[in-house]
Amino acid sequence: MRNKLIIGNWKMHGSVVENAALIEQLIQGVPSLDANTEIGVCPCAIHIPQISELLAGHDRIDIGAQNVNEHTSGAFTGEISAAMLREFPVKYVLLGHSERRTLFGETDEMIAAKFVAVANEQMTPVLCIGESLQQREQNKTESVLLSQLESVLKVTGKESFSKAVIAYEPIWAIGTGKTATPEQAQAVHQVLRHWLATHLGEVSQRMQILYGGSVKPDNAKTLFSQNDIDGGLIGGASLNAEAFLGICEAAQ
Ligand code: PGA
Repeated sequence: MRNKLIIGNWKMHGSVVENAALIEQLIQGVPSLDANTEIGVCPCAIHIPQISELLAGHDRIDIGAQNVNEHTSGAFTGEISAAMLREFPVKYVLLGHSERRTLFGETDEMIAAKFVAVANEQMTPVLCIGESLQQREQNKTESVLLSQLESVLKVTGKESFSKAVIAYEPIWAIGTGKTATPEQAQAVHQVLRHWLATHLGEVSQRMQILYGGSVKPDNAKTLFSQNDIDGGLIGGASLNAEAFLGICEAAQ
């Protein structure tokens, strides 16, 4: 039995004042949730120290980072290493989000290198994969997703890969209000689980595969009740405590 996992991706939103209010509301709401529901929030990197302090002593909400640099240190102006994240209680690191791939030119090779950097610091990579609308319409969904997974697996090896969380986020559903139907999402998740089973064996049954893309409190329950959907990566709705807690509740 896999625990459900709900991760909020705050993207480039929030401020010191707004974060304090949001975290306070989450801390109040979380105790009423099932203890098996795992919860994470990914603030902007500059806010990680603040969120770490706000969450000190509250072990129900984990912290994630939205990005990391693949190098350990050096002349990389503006970048943040995995070891720097690890100085704070950071558990998850999002990798390969479609916004990073499309807006910042991240390649599969870079994402694989970042995965290794995160794993070396004992954090959990949340590997995001997804197809564009055009790729879906051309029936390329499966080949696109599997090649995104393969390019990372061949660099990291099985052992490291099996400790990751996978997040399937169809690009056409991110921030658009268009969600994949539960059946569409489950069909993809089943393909992913099968691929994981083929390459990694038994451990694939324990790996969490999240769905992301316009998840809201009113569509979360049917999505999360699908066999191979183990929770969600939540963008817009994670900025509102009531909506985010509603989604966490739907995971129970
Ligand atoms: P959304 O974003 O929930 O706003 O669609 C999801 C994501 O980008 O992870």
